[in-house]
Amino acid sequence: MYTEATNAGTSNTSRRTFLKAAGAAAGMALATQRTARGSVETLAINGGTPAVPAPDTDAWRWPRYGEAEEQAVLELVRKPGYDPIDELEAEWCDYMDVPHAKAHCNGTSALASMFFALDLPPGSEIMVPSYTFFATIVPMRLFGLVPVFVDINPRTLNFDLDDAKRRLTPNTKAVLPVHWIGLPCDMDAICDWAEEKGLIVLEDAAHAHGATLQDKYMGAWSDMAIFSYQMSKPLPAIEGGMGTYMTQEYYDRATIFGHYQAPGIPDGSIYKKYLGTGLGLKLRMHPMAAALARCQLQGLEERVSAGLAQTRRLNDVLTELPGLYEQTSGRTDMRRIHYEWNMLFIDEQEAGVSREAVVAALQAEGVRADALSYRLQHKQPMYTEAAWWHHLPEIPELPGSDTANATSIALPYFTREAPEMVAQYIKAFEKVWAHRHELT
Ligand SMILES: Cc1ncc(COP(=O)(O)O)c(C=O)c1O
Repeated sequence: MYTEATNAGTSNTSRRTFLKAAGAAAGMALATQRTARGSVETLAINGGTPAVPAPDTDAWRWPRYGEAEEQAVLELVRKPGYDPIDELEAEWCDYMDVPHAKAHCNGTSALASMFFALDLPPGSEIMVPSYTFFATIVPMRLFGLVPVFVDINPRTLNFDLDDAKRRLTPNTKAVLPVHWIGLPCDMDAICDWAEEKGLIVLEDAAHAHGATLQDKYMGAWSDMAIFSYQMSKPLPAIEGGMGTYMTQEYYDRATIFGHYQAPGIPDGSIYKKYLGTGLGLKLRMHPMAAALARCQLQGLEERVSAGLAQTRRLNDVLTELPGLYEQTSGRTDMRRIHYEWNMLFIDEQEAGVSREAVVAALQAEGVRADALSYRLQHKQPMYTEAAWWHHLPEIPELPGSDTANATSIALPYFTREAPEMVAQYIKAFEKVWAHRHELT
């Protein structure tokens, strides 16, 4: 299905160790040559010519729709109906190799339905990273569920299992890792621990369509998972979401919460009697979104592989620069995907320069670099106000999340082949690194 060559699992550590062991011969010669090349040119921030003189903004345009999508939407306009929803659900089950899937109007409604499906008593705790979009957490409050904020590893931006272990209480009932911008969490270790402790495993795979660990898709590791098909996501339907369920019971509950026609709920189910009323919400996906998602699913595997190969061409060079790292777990048994950002991290001490100075210099070179600080949920006011919660969440210190926000350098993810931009970004980084000790 995919090759090792497209696997993003090569860690900085192993690359650096290899270079050291080999007397750094080939790698160092290359680095010296690059440094020499970069050092002769004046930085754009000091009046030199930018390395990216005319940024190709089309390189990160998303979504990319074509004739197939236009045709699918046109067909639906000419012959309106709901068929694309059923077809998408069947195709998603098939692709993911899961028994049940329900389309929802977005990822947030899929999450709310998932929390309802859990059927846990108020006060039940769910472990979840604070470093995530609000929708992974806030809908819990509608059912009296309590988020337990877990730290992330600042180099993976993913669920820190050791931190979760420290936060386990008798009220903890479930874990909800998020595969941040397409990098798989260590679901094997998380599932083993959850099984040992009797916890339900959930996944927020809103960013991870097509990512795998040990050849199993992210979303297929858990009892229930959600995906977003919102327009920035790897499978864009402009707005839309999907839930996947390993049991009929979970499917029935998640469905009846927002689907009054009880689609797919079998006659014997205790939820079938709510056909015609549902339980008060209508969260059906728009069929036009389903039509778009079906088209986008066709090319998903190809897009993932091409995106990985291109990002390797850029990151394999950038991560040779002192103090510059990429988001990776270093695992060779996973296939990440890329979404939205190509996230790098700076170790300021090792690099000998501050993140702010580097980002300013890169921006002057024409690089769309951002000293990204993602909004941490546990620092938001609504988690401290009793009015919104059955049980108020505890607000912890999360040093890994803070470190991530202090060290990230977000580059855009190039959504189509952009060899010129890759070459120019490499040149910009090499220039800035060659002059980094002059930057203040
Ligand atoms: C991690 C994560 N979970 C859930 C969602 C919610 O998805 P949607 O925007 O489709 O409601 C998002 C959306 O950005 C997200 O980033």
